[in-house]
Amino acid sequence: DGDVFKYYADGEWKKSSSGKAVSIINPTTRKTQYKVQACTQEEVNKVMETAKAAQKSWAKTPLWKRAELLHKAAAILKEHRAPIAEALIKEIAKPAKDAVTEVVRSGDLVSYCAEEGVRILGQGTFLVSDSFPGNERTKYCLTSKIPLGVVLAIPPFNYPVNLAVSKIAPALIAGNSLVLKPPTQGAVACLHMVHCFHLAGFPKGLISCITGKGSEIGDFLTMHPGVNCISFTGGDTGIAISKKAGMIPLQMELGGKDACIVLEDADLDLVAANIVKGGFSYSGQRCTAVKVVLVMESIADTLVEKVKSKVAKLTVGPPEDDCDITPVVSESSANFIEGLVMDAKQKGATFCQEYKREGNLIWPLLLDHVRPDMRIAWEEPFGPVLPVIRIGSVEEGIHHCNASNFGLQGCVFTKDINKAMLISDAMETGTVQINSAPARGPDHFPFQGIKDSGIGSQGITNSINMMTKVKSTVINLP
Ligand code: G3P
Repeated sequence: DGDVFKYYADGEWKKSSSGKAVSIINPTTRKTQYKVQACTQEEVNKVMETAKAAQKSWAKTPLWKRAELLHKAAAILKEHRAPIAEALIKEIAKPAKDAVTEVVRSGDLVSYCAEEGVRILGQGTFLVSDSFPGNERTKYCLTSKIPLGVVLAIPPFNYPVNLAVSKIAPALIAGNSLVLKPPTQGAVACLHMVHCFHLAGFPKGLISCITGKGSEIGDFLTMHPGVNCISFTGGDTGIAISKKAGMIPLQMELGGKDACIVLEDADLDLVAANIVKGGFSYSGQRCTAVKVVLVMESIADTLVEKVKSKVAKLTVGPPEDDCDITPVVSESSANFIEGLVMDAKQKGATFCQEYKREGNLIWPLLLDHVRPDMRIAWEEPFGPVLPVIRIGSVEEGIHHCNASNFGLQGCVFTKDINKAMLISDAMETGTVQINSAPARGPDHFPFQGIKDSGIGSQGITNSINMMTKVKSTVINLP
């Protein structure tokens, strides 16, 4: 069937023997936009076998050659930005400009990873024994970093390309092979991206992209004995994966409830700009979106007014028109967001705008006077709805932030750097941004969540290191 995108295995584009397809619904039209292969467990087994075989010779390929291929893939990726961005628009309703930015950022990430890889993987350590009590200088220890084997990459729908390459590039530069399981929404963008790696000329079987239903191949993939490392970004599924996975390194990023703490001395225009950008970019569908504003009562009215006037300027509509607010990824997501809004309404939150929804399109909404008994005070809407909680003290803000089961990022706005540092120390999150909204990038910065927000740390350098293991050789002198 020519209408169904093929999956990628053993250096070729293939049809699944299942004869079945998975439909990708365009969030804007709510009609089927694309179809991808519904791969079988048998096909997963084959992919794992070829990945294992390809990895053996890839690990022996000189590091500079691996880097060269990655640089080539990065250039091809950037050249192919248009068709990939088109898929992002149709599959996940990403605004047109952001869709292009995602691809370009991904190309830059791949290049940077190649550069960083040749530096950090080109070095090992050398230790001598006589620094430890009781030892003579009779043992020399040489260490280097070796690959783990087969890395399974599972990116989320919101950055299917960027969060795929942020796993693919470190895995490959470090000498691993890679199996990609794209999200259903975003699978076609991933297939296009993988095509760029195909064109770059990587060895057969080194990269594969297997599409299908999570219910059929999800657990099978994550529990597969051939997998030596899982890098996952997404939601609760990550918690389930971590419980089922074998004794292998895991890298996980599972969302957040990023708090924005605003002190009385803050520059409120700067705060308002960051709240709107942080809270409403890609309609709030970012792990690092501002998800709760904790503002000192004395300045709350002024800040809310400033945010309201900026929200009023956001454009709402289809991603093709590059609107700021576009339809959320699925109907079930829109229903979930609506559930949070209705709960807040029932419990007395102040609506700064009228709640409006058409299909999957939800108009931006700021909810003031939110209290801790409302679901939206704690849950992650992953939509263009932002709660404001008024606080009487900084301690109250920190307490709310730390009472969350999430701990991805947070931000604090104040002109007092000493206060900012103390608050940063007190906030139990992987990163605290001072005077800016949370964000993962630049992509070489460490990126990590604590508590239910994740395991390990990402960012280019940390990912390369995470996808390797230290190997020692000890020379024993007579
Ligand atoms: O939601 C995924 C997370 O990685 C966000 O990235 O670049 O929007 O901060 P970014």
